[in-house]
Amino acid sequence: MRLSIVLLPGDGIGPEVTEEAVRVLDAAAHAGGHTIHRSTHPIGGTALRSHGSALPESTLRACFDADAVFLGAVGDPAFDRSAPAQRPEAGLLALRLALGGYANLRPAFCPDGLIGRSAYRPDLVRGADLLVVRELLGGLYFGEPRAVDLEAGTAHNTMRYERWEIDRVARVAFDQARMRRKLVTSVDKANVLETSRLWRATVSAVAADYPDVTLEHALVDSCATRLALAPRSFDVILTENLFGDILSDQAAALAGSLGLLPSATLGGRVPLFEPVHGSAPDIAGRGAANPIGAIASMAMLLRSAAHLPHEADNIEHAIREVLSAGHRTRDIAGPGDAVVTTRQMGDLVIAALAEVAERRHSYHGV
Ligand code: IPM
Ligand code: MG
Repeated sequence: MRLSIVLLPGDGIGPEVTEEAVRVLDAAAHAGGHTIHRSTHPIGGTALRSHGSALPESTLRACFDADAVFLGAVGDPAFDRSAPAQRPEAGLLALRLALGGYANLRPAFCPDGLIGRSAYRPDLVRGADLLVVRELLGGLYFGEPRAVDLEAGTAHNTMRYERWEIDRVARVAFDQARMRRKLVTSVDKANVLETSRLWRATVSAVAADYPDVTLEHALVDSCATRLALAPRSFDVILTENLFGDILSDQAAALAGSLGLLPSATLGGRVPLFEPVHGSAPDIAGRGAANPIGAIASMAMLLRSAAHLPHEADNIEHAIREVLSAGHRTRDIAGPGDAVVTTRQMGDLVIAALAEVAERRHSYHGV
């Protein structure tokens, strides 16, 4: 199979982690005899510097022609004082809008090799495995009108949802739950917000089409506590844009580091894959970044954009083995642990991948 992907390494640690993800992609694809065609384009602060726009026209055109888009990270403190529309993040938001993917899938779990290493007690985190399905194109992020007047000391944003926007992302959550443990927890703030009342009513209506899946509703504040106290009680968390942004970062604490978590954005013209972490400018260029979130995002790309589930499974398996063997980048290292660099972590995953693929091959060959 031939696949064409666009790489948007972006800012900060984005390029370093993208490089490792691409090396793993090549190793996995090569083993399966698949050809991946790719091109690299600027986005974010890098693009603001080179093109004067956080999402240049040429980048967007390349994305439209691709089978999938992979993004490293955007964000650059040099633009901290710029208006939101002139910041690197605006490039990512414009890209999400243009590609049209409305369902952002963010899996979170604690790999066996890290149980007892994260801030969670082992008995709380063992077996925790959840998926945040975040609505990505609505709510406060995109609602109009929006404005700030710093002199006058006033500002407003608009939270807005329509039934069809909630309906379509709810269906993705229920479809995902069908492939998992068949529980959807829909998260809102229906005791205060009108948008949440529409959210709740719409999700309940969609649930009627999925009698095999259990639906429960939870308020976002109590959901945050439950995520900390009983993370195993969740399967799929379905929620709107801003709540999903916050809860998915909180869920990342299960794994112990934001650097481990991948995401996929589906439903649009071209699917978009990106690690959940940001550009981490403080550690950029030092080989200190954890590439696993990016590598795991590449696995999601192989599964859902390239329809290569075996290659995706192999990568995920390799990641688990590397973590179980005790290899640690700085973000997941404990006191006294040897620390590997971004590149070394990539090498370790590639080596483990070769072993995993070999084992599977001989197993299936018997
Ligand atoms: C994320 C990030 C983005 C978001 C930022 C960089 C715009 O935090 O992907 O979670 O808020 O969606
Ligand atoms: Mg976020």
